[in-house]
Amino acid sequence: MNDELIKKDYSTKIKKVQKLNKAYYQENNSIVTDQEYDLLKKQIIDLEKKYLFLKSKHSPTVSIGFKPSKNFEKVRHKVPMLSLGNAFNEEDLKNFEKKLFNFLSLNKISVVDYSAEPKIDGISASLIYINGKFIKGLSRGDGVEGEDITENLKTIKDIPQNVSAKNFPNEIDIRGEVFIENDDFKKISEKFANPRNAASGSLRQKDHNVTAKIPLKFIAYTFGYTSEMKINNQTEFLENLKVWGFKTNPFNKKISGIKNLMSNHKNLEEKRKEIAFDIDGVVYKVNDFSLQKRLGFAANAPRWAIAHKFSANSSISEIINIEIQVGRTGALTPVAKIKPVNIGGVIVSNATLHNEDEIIRKDIRIGDTVTVERAGDVIPHVVSVDIKKRNKNSKKFNFPLICPSCGNKTVKDYNETTKKKDAVRRCTSEGYECEKIAIEKIKHFVSKEAFNIDGLGKRIVENFWNLKLIRFPQDIFNFNYDKIEKLEGWGKLSVKNLKFSIEKKITISLDRFIYALGIRHIGQENAKLIAKHLKTADNFFKLSKDKNIEILSNIDGIGKTQIQSIKKFFLNKTNLDVLSELKKKLKIQNMILINDKGLLNNKTFMLTGKLNGISRAEAKSLIEQNSGKIISNVNKKLNYLIVGEKPTIKKINTARELNIKIIDQKELLKMLNKLG
Ligand code: IVH
Repeated sequence: MNDELIKKDYSTKIKKVQKLNKAYYQENNSIVTDQEYDLLKKQIIDLEKKYLFLKSKHSPTVSIGFKPSKNFEKVRHKVPMLSLGNAFNEEDLKNFEKKLFNFLSLNKISVVDYSAEPKIDGISASLIYINGKFIKGLSRGDGVEGEDITENLKTIKDIPQNVSAKNFPNEIDIRGEVFIENDDFKKISEKFANPRNAASGSLRQKDHNVTAKIPLKFIAYTFGYTSEMKINNQTEFLENLKVWGFKTNPFNKKISGIKNLMSNHKNLEEKRKEIAFDIDGVVYKVNDFSLQKRLGFAANAPRWAIAHKFSANSSISEIINIEIQVGRTGALTPVAKIKPVNIGGVIVSNATLHNEDEIIRKDIRIGDTVTVERAGDVIPHVVSVDIKKRNKNSKKFNFPLICPSCGNKTVKDYNETTKKKDAVRRCTSEGYECEKIAIEKIKHFVSKEAFNIDGLGKRIVENFWNLKLIRFPQDIFNFNYDKIEKLEGWGKLSVKNLKFSIEKKITISLDRFIYALGIRHIGQENAKLIAKHLKTADNFFKLSKDKNIEILSNIDGIGKTQIQSIKKFFLNKTNLDVLSELKKKLKIQNMILINDKGLLNNKTFMLTGKLNGISRAEAKSLIEQNSGKIISNVNKKLNYLIVGEKPTIKKINTARELNIKIIDQKELLKMLNKLG
């Protein structure tokens, strides 16, 4: 068979599997027997293994073995399930430790112990125990809300149904990883792309009898909510988990010092192939729970933990073309379309070239033979070019000076901090004028951390864009569902589900709303800071009056760059139209500050000078935990100026003029009942 015929055969099979999936999952209708269905999937997988150029996003190797049910009940985690930051090398680890030490105001020679735990590549789950009984089990979901997969989890033998140990807390969420061992995976490998997909697919089956047939395992490593628990550190907690009847990772270790972390990482990486399950790195957690508590959380991940990934897999390929993608903030990202290669079990046909400067620096050209690297869930990238293999006639790549999407001018911004021009070239269009930026803005609007609309993924946004069903975020709330129902791939049930998930999101928190707008430099953390400060959506809308924006300069953490960017956002007429349309449709909740009755409620603080034994970041987080507010200007709204060593005299003088209370560290701690 020639390539064209093979492709045709493959695509007929993919179309058939899609049709069967739709019938089964959306219409509960089995057109063929399970055996026939499995045979079809096996044929597709065999074809893909034999002909590496075959690829389809609808392949059962890309989507999971069997499509998960959408019908699990959503349950809010009492304590969110966060993710972890990544480290790839010694430098990243040094940075991680440096930040820890700065936050905790430790000196350079201090030693912090870490619990080093091999990172299992599976699916995390949270098990709720009340009075020693396994009550409910949840998937991670979006971290805030998980799915109730109790019945499926009950089929896993490693999960104790009852724990009778005396020191087991009355109520606790035990968290860990559900996974499948490599030998067990081999038995079902024709159905899934990799062990992780096998675990995920099995865990989210609608029929738990199907789950029961898959030999899933569970390893516990942390907890979410807990009633009183007298355990002081992670190593002790892991020991207790064993006593309570949970499996823990046999390679967990207590380690201190970057050098030792590095050698443990190297050892595990070498041992990786001998271990019965897939691991993709090592997780380091500050061992001491009281330090963990002080360190707390940033937007999505704890400050006290990091995942040190194993090094990437790489392969050689050839650049067929270089395409320029336009991102949400107008950044022009060059992407190499490469001849498909298998890198560590995944077929890769795109690799990022990062930005214009990177292309110039490495002199990357179309037709070049290149090494492409892929590490875990990180986007594959081109590492180097084999110049010897370069064709004599090859030409330097000319980076476009106009936006390939809208034709507008592109620029490289001057970065005030680095005093250099950015490496990234950007389209100068404002928001929705540029088609590609607009699509990316809408994808961002519906994304997990923003409106989190189930069933409106990136592909669907693109599809709806092409069908002119969507141009602006507000269009989502005015969809013509009759029209959608008639589209290929849609049916009554899926439209009903989409409508339901959109209507659910009409009520939204102010911080999510601000983040969803996709204003440059306003990520989750900054959106939260702004929302906390402004409290109501009306106050946010009022920022469109130029002079109001200056209020934001009072927020510690919001600087000139952010304010400039917000100003620019509000100067754009289309943005204002989008805001006014959204305002009509949405119920934006005022910020309810948790712990509003803290000791420092309604009080504002500002720090000047260095404190003793406590960093600025920690002092800030301590004040905020107690409902106080940090502002970054001395003005009439300030209640207390906290003065440390070597303060800015001008600030003290202004505070005196305005009759603001000037206190020192001791007095602050006294206010918090932390001192005698
Ligand atoms: S701790 C806030 N410990 O890694 C603490 N996670 O990227 C977060 N994982 O979703 C979890 N092994 O699925 C933790 N020993 C371990 C882990 C581990 C694997 C996974 C887990 C989590 C992801 C974070």
